[in-house]
Amino acid sequence: MEIKAIGCEPLQLKMMHVKDGHTLKVYKDHGGYAALEKALKMAPGDVIEEVKTSALRGRGGAGFPTGMKWSFVPKDSPKPKYVVCNADESEPGTFKDRYLMERDPHALIEGMAIAGHALGSKTGYIYTRGEYKYLIDIMDVAIAEAREAGLLGKNILGSGHDFDIHTHTGAGAYICGEETALLSSLEGFRGHPRMKPPFPAVEGLYACPTVVNNVETLTAVPQIINMGGLAWRDLGTEKSGGTKLWSVSGHVKKPGVYELPMGYKDLEKFILEDCGGMLRDDKKLKACIPGGSSVYIMNAEQIVGKGVTMDYEGLVAGGSSVGSGGFIVMDETVDIMESTKNLTEFYKHESCGWCTPCREGTDWLVKIFNRISIGEGRPEDAQLMLDICDNIEGKSFCPLGDAAAWPIQSAIKQFPGDFKKWLAGKANGVVEANV
Ligand SMILES: Cc1cc2nc3c(=O)[nH]c(=O)nc-3n(C[C@H](O)[C@H](O)[C@H](O)COP(=O)(O)O)c2cc1C
Ligand code: SF4
Repeated sequence: MEIKAIGCEPLQLKMMHVKDGHTLKVYKDHGGYAALEKALKMAPGDVIEEVKTSALRGRGGAGFPTGMKWSFVPKDSPKPKYVVCNADESEPGTFKDRYLMERDPHALIEGMAIAGHALGSKTGYIYTRGEYKYLIDIMDVAIAEAREAGLLGKNILGSGHDFDIHTHTGAGAYICGEETALLSSLEGFRGHPRMKPPFPAVEGLYACPTVVNNVETLTAVPQIINMGGLAWRDLGTEKSGGTKLWSVSGHVKKPGVYELPMGYKDLEKFILEDCGGMLRDDKKLKACIPGGSSVYIMNAEQIVGKGVTMDYEGLVAGGSSVGSGGFIVMDETVDIMESTKNLTEFYKHESCGWCTPCREGTDWLVKIFNRISIGEGRPEDAQLMLDICDNIEGKSFCPLGDAAAWPIQSAIKQFPGDFKKWLAGKANGVVEANV
């Protein structure tokens, strides 16, 4: 398991290999909390401007510009305001936030405290999936250390600003990573998504203005304040500022968590050189899902020789997206019908059941995949699945519906042969796929 930066100095990964880097003392020895001290001397609006300048985009999956999101919080609202860290890390293929919390918990606390100052919030929550209970234990110890040192609580660092953080574990449901379902769950209700608008920035936790940000988004904030928004942006590209973590799994020799500058050139080099190349030397690259299971799957022709840059714009131009950076590599032994069936079972299982297109659609899709996989597929099944996806995409209550449709749509488009062989088997009266 590699944890390292390529093409830049480690910023997000700075503390990963530092002995006792999770402790307050060691974090401070490495410059920790200097950004909070600096931010507390700045006007809240200037902190937001700095984050805007940095071109930081949310690392949870949607890539929404963070500074802009912060600026939507009404300054004159008499209600309390909340900073909520989305540490659910539920997107399949994504495992970066866990290392940030395990080995660098104070970076998250510092980022949240800076956000608290910028937004006029006194209270922050860290929400994780139940399976990450061990991380909450680590966070709780770090929060207690910070409180003891006057970095959290009343009048932090003598600034007159109060800010404290509480932790909360859910029960491990994918939908609770969706920000409004997360807020419902945090309030003690079942984790169903809520109607947007109103967006959480205006009406979030307990109907109060709330900013929800991913762990990696918040841990970038101290770096931005330390080096200045412009310098941080220039590590990446004009529209995709800074560096990004990629959780790499699958058929490469060196899976792990990699920090790359945004705009890294290029996707092919990253897989075939930086990640050590294909796991088995005699097997070719077949597919890559660069941004977690909810983004379009890419075939080798879209990657090899195409110079796809690793940033928001480059990956969209290349046929997929950054998503949460859950980077899954597959070699030629993988049958894309089977891998897509596996993902669709996940979405069916995790559909919260609130709206019909997603609840019924994912169920029908799994039924069709099941009959295909036992050799009972029909020639028209690929088109039937595309029609069902069309009735889910854009017609569901929350983005989980789109996330269920996109892997199937892109898999059928980029790997038609992997579907045809199963369907042709039935048409010919022969199941060819398993031979
Ligand atoms: C089904 C679903 C699951 C999600 N899971 C996560 C998650 O585990 N972690 C996360 O940060 N964002 C997740 N998101 C995105 C959040 O809704 C939200 O966009 C994000 O927390 C905002 O933070 P950011 O702006 O820092 O990215 C999910 C979205 C959906 C639709
Ligand atoms: S799209 Fe799926 S997960 Fe989202 S509300 Fe509808 S049923 Fe629930």
